[in-house]
Amino acid sequence: MKLTHTAEETREEIAKARASGRVIGFVPTMGALHKGHMTLVRNAREQCDFVVVSIFVNPTQFGPREDLAKYPRTLESDLRKCEDAGVDLVFAPSAAEMYPEGFDRWVEVDGPTDVLEGARRPGHFRGVTTVCAKFFGIVRPDSTFFGRKDYQQLVIVGRLVRDLEGPIMIVPVDTVRESDGLAMSSRNVYLSSSERQAALVLSRSLQAAQRAFDSGERRARTLQSAAENMIRAEPLAKIDYVAIVDAETLGLIETIERPAVLLLAVRIGATRLIDNVLLG
Ligand code: PAJ
Repeated sequence: MKLTHTAEETREEIAKARASGRVIGFVPTMGALHKGHMTLVRNAREQCDFVVVSIFVNPTQFGPREDLAKYPRTLESDLRKCEDAGVDLVFAPSAAEMYPEGFDRWVEVDGPTDVLEGARRPGHFRGVTTVCAKFFGIVRPDSTFFGRKDYQQLVIVGRLVRDLEGPIMIVPVDTVRESDGLAMSSRNVYLSSSERQAALVLSRSLQAAQRAFDSGERRARTLQSAAENMIRAEPLAKIDYVAIVDAETLGLIETIERPAVLLLAVRIGATRLIDNVLLG
């Protein structure tokens, strides 16, 4: 496995692979790799010939009061996991490599960036789409793998690629969970043991809504209340948002007639967690 830190050496390595006719798969991450990330890598390994993983805690997607400084950084163990998973190249740039002095070019997607996470975290998606556009330019992958865990990000990166005519296939990967249902996240390490227990309310509330949907309930308000009531009963949890939106446009809906997604963001103590479930 190769490890690169600059765009130039990364381009060179990938150019060699491409010249020998290999299909390039790309998994962008912020490191602190867990089984969720590694499932994206496994999918890339199965579907592509040359697998590139980026590890970069992207400062531009963190707000001023967010957890950039304390975000877990575990490069050594991340590299071991990548090696074991058969990754060909890890690109781990510095912030100065990605954003040199004078950097002033942003890539923005309108529409689905204004709601949900975008409304609560101003500038977050501008940071995500900018860094993804840069990575796509450096790696030029045939396929790139994104988790449904960050559903809104998946939709927005899909728009980015479509609107810039990027000849890149985006492969969505289902959310990987702990055995008790908690969605895997690099931020789960922030949870104390009582908070870890309380955090189960996210997946349980989604399951409650899913059950109601499966038994025929189609009113978004009612499904949303089923989830909200369960979260409100958990003293350590504080709802940031619970919303049911169209799975493609992320527009709010009243009655589910087309595929929809229930998304939620909940604070457990000082830790903000997100999760979602597809309905239909
Ligand atoms: P990060 O949070 O490290 O996630 C990297 C990728 O792993 C994303 O596509 C995310 O959806 C996926 N992922 C995380 N937890 C998952 C889980 N439990 N199951 C399945 N997939 C999961 O998302 C980012 O980094 C950044 O915004 C990034 C795209 C790298 C841009 O900086």
